[in-house]
Amino acid sequence: MASPDLLFRGARVIDPRAGRDEVADVHVRDGIVVDVGSGLDGASAEIVEGDGLVLTPGLVDIHTHLREPGFEQKETIETGTRAAAAGGYTAVAPMANTDPVADDASVIAEVRAAAARAGLADVFPVGAITKGLEGEVLAEIGEMAAAGVRVFSDDGRCVPTARTLRNALTYARAFDDVVIAEHCEDASLSRGQQMHEGISSSSLGLAGQPGAAEDAIVYRDIELARLTGGRLHICHVSSARSVELVRRAKADGLRISAEVTPHHLVFIDEDLRTYDTNKKVNPPLRTEADRDALREGLADGTIDAIATDHAPHAVEEKEAEFDRAPPGTIGLETALAVALTDLVAPGLVSLPRALESLSSAPALILGARDHGGPIEVGRPANLVLFDPEERWTAEPPFVSRSRNSAFIGRELRGRVRSTVLHGELTIAEGKATR
Ligand code: DOR
Ligand code: ZN
Repeated sequence: MASPDLLFRGARVIDPRAGRDEVADVHVRDGIVVDVGSGLDGASAEIVEGDGLVLTPGLVDIHTHLREPGFEQKETIETGTRAAAAGGYTAVAPMANTDPVADDASVIAEVRAAAARAGLADVFPVGAITKGLEGEVLAEIGEMAAAGVRVFSDDGRCVPTARTLRNALTYARAFDDVVIAEHCEDASLSRGQQMHEGISSSSLGLAGQPGAAEDAIVYRDIELARLTGGRLHICHVSSARSVELVRRAKADGLRISAEVTPHHLVFIDEDLRTYDTNKKVNPPLRTEADRDALREGLADGTIDAIATDHAPHAVEEKEAEFDRAPPGTIGLETALAVALTDLVAPGLVSLPRALESLSSAPALILGARDHGGPIEVGRPANLVLFDPEERWTAEPPFVSRSRNSAFIGRELRGRVRSTVLHGELTIAEGKATR
């Protein structure tokens, strides 16, 4: 077990919530921050040199698939949270599309118990909106909310009718701060489609779905949030139109938030010309104009958070022909470096805003009070220390049980050195401690 008394010395401390960005020392003991300042001596503390490194709140992923129970050949709560720690995360929210589906409090309890046994990240299970993700009968939202579940989603599927989503949003209002997180996809436009519909899909000979498959549902859901006053979160926004719809909904004062994935911030439909099944994702990679709108939306805060949609799949599934491979890419181990490489380095998004979108913003949506900062005396010590310059290439094997990364072969900039979970190192010197 790592030392519970740690002094991080001389790192650039970026605390998005407190607006701090300065070189400082941070002393952590017994799970909490006990001192922040310069020239701290820390007496008997273990010193972690931070010169040239960045210390910031541990990352928070509001959209992860850990696959347990039911798909342990792809990932388990243990392997998934190990990957999370390696990527600098201290909190993750696993989606409900497991087997059984997390649609009642018993599955939620099972996920939490496995997470506690692993002890590698705080896990906030997402509850299903509808029973069995079938889109018809509401899941045990009340029971799960009473058990502390904050976010509900049928992710992987869209809630098919406005009526059901209206009921969910109305019901959610009865509970403090419950969030309905929607995977926006009109299945009648997307079913059986392999990628974004456009010039690329025609030239690759793959069936395509238009951006309207997403936009139409984003529009529908925003109107239902307006009608009900319920809190709506839009998962993995992928189109320029959706960004604009969210922007307007926020301007109207609606209670709405949104996330974007690292892969949608980097790749476009043309990147599928090699038929790389690791870049087959849902929603699909869209056009350059869409990607640029996502970047702009993230920079200006229209899109609140970067969420990985870490979606592990087995090698043999992803080695199938393109139209038979399941959609999804893993992302926990690369998200920070991708944001640093593709957004911060080219000057598209500032470093503090990028870190806010990876930690404090998602922590707020998730209600993960111990995470996302501020880095202040008395606060739980959930932190990540990273080298913003170290270069490395994403390649298997990964810490995750799966290896379906869209980023394989990419040279990335920025690497995690230490991850601190409630005052203990889960990662030290870039390596797992347990
Ligand atoms: O690419 C995706 N993979 N998108 C989803 O919505 C679901 C996910 C999965 O569960 O594999
Ligand atoms: Zn989804």
